[in-house]
Amino acid sequence: MAPQIKYTKLFIDNEWVDAKSGKTFDTYYPHDGSIIAKVAEGDKADIDLAVAAAKRAFHRNSEWRLYDASKRREILTKFADLVARDASYLAELESYNNGMLLTMANYIVNMSVGAGQYLASLADKYHGDTIPLDGEAFSYTLKQPVGVCGLILPWNGPIPIFINKVVTALAAGCTVVVKPAEQTPLTALYLASLLKEAGIPAGVVNVVPGFGPGAGSSLTHHSDVAKISFTGSREVGMLIQQAAGVNNLKRVTLELGGKSPLVIMNDADLDIAVPTAAAAIFNLSGQVCVAASRLYVQADIYDEFVKRAVEHAKKINVGDPTKSDTTQGPQTDEATLNKILEYIALGKKEGAKLMTGGNRIGKTGYYVEPTVFADVKDDMTIAREEIFGPVQSILKFNTLEEVIDRANNTNYGLAAGIFTKNVNNALQYAKHVEAGNVWINGYLIIGPQAPFGGFKDSGLGRENGKDCIEEYLEVKTVSIALPKKF
Ligand code: NAI
Ligand code: MG
Repeated sequence: MAPQIKYTKLFIDNEWVDAKSGKTFDTYYPHDGSIIAKVAEGDKADIDLAVAAAKRAFHRNSEWRLYDASKRREILTKFADLVARDASYLAELESYNNGMLLTMANYIVNMSVGAGQYLASLADKYHGDTIPLDGEAFSYTLKQPVGVCGLILPWNGPIPIFINKVVTALAAGCTVVVKPAEQTPLTALYLASLLKEAGIPAGVVNVVPGFGPGAGSSLTHHSDVAKISFTGSREVGMLIQQAAGVNNLKRVTLELGGKSPLVIMNDADLDIAVPTAAAAIFNLSGQVCVAASRLYVQADIYDEFVKRAVEHAKKINVGDPTKSDTTQGPQTDEATLNKILEYIALGKKEGAKLMTGGNRIGKTGYYVEPTVFADVKDDMTIAREEIFGPVQSILKFNTLEEVIDRANNTNYGLAAGIFTKNVNNALQYAKHVEAGNVWINGYLIIGPQAPFGGFKDSGLGRENGKDCIEEYLEVKTVSIALPKKF
């Protein structure tokens, strides 16, 4: 049974309101393309109201600003507890709106509770230094919230990314306007209701669903917004960095996509490497920023690896995301589906060898067959551009030296992996590969305690880790003259 939809309006100043224009947009169930609900469509006028509310809530005498940091921790911990209370409902809603497997959604929501608790705990752990300045002076630093933050979310991990960005910003003492992705507004609105229930004062959190060029762009251009944190495409990340300098100078954190290389050396344990490499590209239907979309396999084991990878892909059970034996659900939207099919066509045209898959499944819903290409070359489009779908591209290499250069020959730099039993090779690769996260004999080993982000065009700044809160803080140095006069 479909989960009940409780919130479809904008959340501004702790109230549910229609868009000023009265407009709404449809949100869909990716399994069959049916309309789930009409959601209020925020635009510039609504962003202006939301930013004004967030600015009032950030005033130095506001309830929020006068809270002790521990009070912020308590409220945010309560929020994480409420997410835990409603975890099953949230997972159902996430699966319904995004199409991800319900089993995966349950796992991710539970992980997000832990992340929320960890990030909440940072609220009262951050403070300044005392500094020995030359001469007769006493100097100290204050760490203060940057101000109103615009948080722009993607559709591939709506709940974890909402929780990550919102809790980090609030732990720092900022106030926020959240713009969820147009494909997946529903869980963000429900999470807003939980923040209100947890006791967040009015205006501290505002959620304005809408489209990128309307609501998103208005937020990135707003002169009362001090910082933007964004997760999404490289193209929009670049637009955001430009917009951030038009009307004021916004701080920017960007988590963009990748073309992450996973290297399998001759000595790898294939019983682990094959399924791990498959999970690294097929999980979430390939809609993962760190997806291992360039799989480099060493020459001696290449044919055997390809054979096993194809066998593995053929066993994937694609279908209804709510069924417990399904192992791959639909893509989240039709545009993504079409983009993936175009890349598959390009792969074939440019000479990659299609080993399995390659087609859309059915006519309703946004399903793609798990696809494996062998004999992929570095200059092919499928080896250069982010596909964001269940398409495994397998390339051959001979030496570690060679594969490191090839792995680095991209503007992306989000993640990288290697399978080998040789510690030196693993650590040399980890040292020289240009990526923000490197995994050895595993993949996607993440948690709120570990910094996460990209080199090069994969991003700016880091999320997670004990220092992530710094991205939302300004440092103020206060120095006091201490004349020797008693
Ligand atoms: P996108 O980058 O266009 O959308 C992400 C968010 O940015 C959405 O909330 C959207 O409304 C907003 N946005 C779009 N244009 C904007 C603008 N001009 N100003 C401010 N906000 C704007 O990503 P899209 O179109 O949904 O997906 C395209 C591709 O991007 C995917 O196929 C994938 O390759 C990549 N992507 C990467 C993600 C990641 O995890 N790093 C997440 C989502 C997409
Ligand atoms: Mg887009």
